[in-house]
Amino acid sequence: MKIATIVGARPQFIKAAAVSRELSNHSELKEIIIHTGQHFDQNMSDIFFNEMQIPQPHYQLAVSGGSHGKSTGRMLEKIEEVLLLEKPDAVLVYGDTNSTLAGALAAKKIHIPLVHVEAGLRSFNMRMPEELNRILTDRISDLLCCPTDEAVKNLEKEGFNNFASHIRKTGDVMYDVALFYQSNSTPSTQIQELCEESSPFILATIHRAENTDNIENLQSIFEAFNEINTQTSVILPLHPRTRKIVEQNDIPVSFKLIDPVGYFDMIHLIQKAALVMTDSGGLQKEAFFFKKNCVTLREQTEWTELVENGLNVLTGADKSKILSAYKHMLHKSSNFDINLYGKGNASAQIVKAIQQTILSY
Ligand code: UD1
Ligand code: UDP
Repeated sequence: MKIATIVGARPQFIKAAAVSRELSNHSELKEIIIHTGQHFDQNMSDIFFNEMQIPQPHYQLAVSGGSHGKSTGRMLEKIEEVLLLEKPDAVLVYGDTNSTLAGALAAKKIHIPLVHVEAGLRSFNMRMPEELNRILTDRISDLLCCPTDEAVKNLEKEGFNNFASHIRKTGDVMYDVALFYQSNSTPSTQIQELCEESSPFILATIHRAENTDNIENLQSIFEAFNEINTQTSVILPLHPRTRKIVEQNDIPVSFKLIDPVGYFDMIHLIQKAALVMTDSGGLQKEAFFFKKNCVTLREQTEWTELVENGLNVLTGADKSKILSAYKHMLHKSSNFDINLYGKGNASAQIVKAIQQTILSY
């Protein structure tokens, strides 16, 4: 049986690290990895394949840049060509990026069964490109692998019980990855030194379109970081899209900007941080996995259970809300001993579900 995995953006490489390892334990399953090219810098793509020993992509489609419509369309065309050639028994897509939607559409237009990992998440903000990608992908998936109870409930509310698709709560693959690499990774000397000399520090990331494409939002967030940095150091590995906008607009920065880092350095930064402040989806959960409070610089989150448990606070881009959340969360003593994302065996659950549903057709 052949499974074609579509990846293209940083969080998908990290999720694929866990599922690819699990698939490789099954000699009856052959995985073909198709990289759309959405992320292409060495430290946004290759570093993850190399350090996490993800099998090198069988196909590199080199589609990057351009508008959402243009890049998604080009990916769709090129993925379809590969799928027609490879004729896989199933296509596996992750998350909510344009690569996810392109892979999903390409598969279903030619009647290949589709598996969506990280199904059922919703921000209920239809202006987010990711919300469109996940809703559309969920609707045409044959197997929906949900990380949380909330994700299953979202699908049920949308009537998925009336559809022919299979819904499985598998737990979160990012938890598998975090558990594995917590004891199977070594950070670079440079990042270890940076953590030591900056301690205590806040780890921040910003790349979400609602913050980067709105200059007032980005300025407000950076003003807040400049102010926080006078009390607690801020370290921010900067996404290339954010770097371009910061530079084009001469946004003042008095805290520490570094280039994007690999996963091994990233989990070292998280573990050494006093607090995480981010608009990333994945990082909100990783803060929890490594027992750190989180401030989320968005109006909504898909990971509502973190907010409900007091481990995450939503501020949007409002400077005064960011500053008060920083003060509130920096020394807050939280209980992280709750099971929100499964048992760390999501990859095994996903492969089992694929075998029981899709491959037994
Ligand atoms: C994408 C996903 C987002 C995800 C994020 C993870 C969509 C709509 N968005 O956002 O959900 O959270 O990836 O990081 O799919 N760029 C480079 N080098 C790279 C990658 C990007 O220079 O290796 C620059 C390019 O100018 C590119 C821009 O960043 O045009 C945006 O990249 P894109 O993949 O469109 O969106 P992300 O913001 O990365
Ligand atoms: N990440 C990384 N290096 C960085 C920034 C993020 O390895 O410089 C990791 C992060 O730890 C998480 C994943 O990338 O595992 C999240 O991806 P991102 O924030 O790009 O996307 P999102 O989760 O918001 O879709």
